[in-house]
Amino acid sequence: MTQAPPVPSGLLRRALADARSPRLPRSVPYIPERAFPWGGPALSPAGAGGAVDLDRVLRLSLGAPDGSTAGRLRPVASAGALHPVRAHLLIGPGCSLPPGRYAYDPRTHRAHPRGRAPADAAPGAVVVLTVTAARTVAHYGHRAWPLLLLDAGHAAAALALAAAPYCAQVSLDVDGAELSAAAGLPGAAEWRELWPGSEPELPLAAVWLAAARKSAPSTDPLAAWADLPRATAPVPQPGSETAPPRELATTRHVLDKLAAAPGRPTWHPARRPAPVTDDTLRTRRSADPAELAHPSAPYLLAQVLATAEGARPDGPAWAAAIGGDTPGLLTTTGVLASGDARPTLARWAAGQQWIGTAGAVLVAHGCPADAPPALIRSSHLAAGHAAGVAQAHATALGLRSRPIGSWQQADLGAALGDAPGHDWIVHGLALAGPVDPALPAPPPPSGKEERP
Ligand SMILES: Cc1cc2nc3c(=O)[nH]c(=O)nc-3n(C[C@H](O)[C@H](O)[C@H](O)COP(=O)(O)O)c2cc1C
Repeated sequence: MTQAPPVPSGLLRRALADARSPRLPRSVPYIPERAFPWGGPALSPAGAGGAVDLDRVLRLSLGAPDGSTAGRLRPVASAGALHPVRAHLLIGPGCSLPPGRYAYDPRTHRAHPRGRAPADAAPGAVVVLTVTAARTVAHYGHRAWPLLLLDAGHAAAALALAAAPYCAQVSLDVDGAELSAAAGLPGAAEWRELWPGSEPELPLAAVWLAAARKSAPSTDPLAAWADLPRATAPVPQPGSETAPPRELATTRHVLDKLAAAPGRPTWHPARRPAPVTDDTLRTRRSADPAELAHPSAPYLLAQVLATAEGARPDGPAWAAAIGGDTPGLLTTTGVLASGDARPTLARWAAGQQWIGTAGAVLVAHGCPADAPPALIRSSHLAAGHAAGVAQAHATALGLRSRPIGSWQQADLGAALGDAPGHDWIVHGLALAGPVDPALPAPPPPSGKEERP
């Protein structure tokens, strides 16, 4: 693999400052989900004899529900319910699908073969997660790219949680060029020329589903795949963009630059926190904001905070803002600050007033204004991953929850009296206890809400 070219330093700093600025996104029309672009035979992932049961793993994580969970589009959460994450399956020996490359269609729960597997493919499956940016950019404009990273992190967590009892290994720092090559996709720069009429996919993360309960990849499980020739192309779609609008082109450029990671990728095991079960993943929902105003029991809040904090070694720090008699900002080791931070968090999170009275608000923070590309990427992917695991844990503990993705001027460090620019909020998860009918209803949120 060749060394990634240096990233123009000003580009990412400007993109980060812009996404965090109070500038409102332009109002762009809603874009409906396009038809799945990969053709060819559609195989059920429920083949016999594989230790890695892709049918179960994909149904519990990315596959559209069969109608049993009203109103939910996918098992995994997604900013604006736009679900921009796609999954390419690189299937080695020991899986419920024959070895080869596949594109996974979440709406039909079918795998479309795209090419053969290398002779020395590692046992198990590697899932390469990509994002298509158009719909998220249409909705969130210049605030979209951090959300696309967070969404990819949530999807990686969903896959890893679904893989239990087997141990999934998650990498959030594989070089984008290697991810594209392994999945048999062109790089962002050449996509439109090679595959006109199809929406470019930007690869951001990989999850290795091993066929054993305990194993860590001793070699890079993507290397053998990346040496194969490119796999089959998507079917061009009528009405596809000829030239992307400027904001979309910028978002793709930023994500492409962020994914250019020098050095060897790292893989970290992701485990399911007890008492999360398959049923938890099947029923997880983000609660309606109006149902998030009741405090959760402190010992349950502490468990979810510890899960978020411990989900990744390469992630940002987490803290929990609570109200009540002793309001404060708590960490797993103590009190970061006293006072009620929730109204400020509500202002910072695109003015979503309900956050000001939420039972608790967990926030991931770090990622300075001048963070290098690898840190910007890992902060957001790992925060999304941690929030995904924490939301599953909260659900299993009977708590209500809702991720919070858009943060503007959320310089937590400066608000706590440190030098500005060093410690920004990148993601959040609101938590609440179940409603006790004996308690008086919380006051309704006041003020106009912006689009999150
Ligand atoms: C990265 C991310 C950011 C989100 N940000 C917000 C937010 O700021 N405000 C909000 O009300 N919901 C937010 N959500 C929740 C989504 O709206 C929710 O996941 C989506 O509507 C799908 O519903 P479900 O989670 O119940 O499946 C976010 C979700 C994700 C994954």
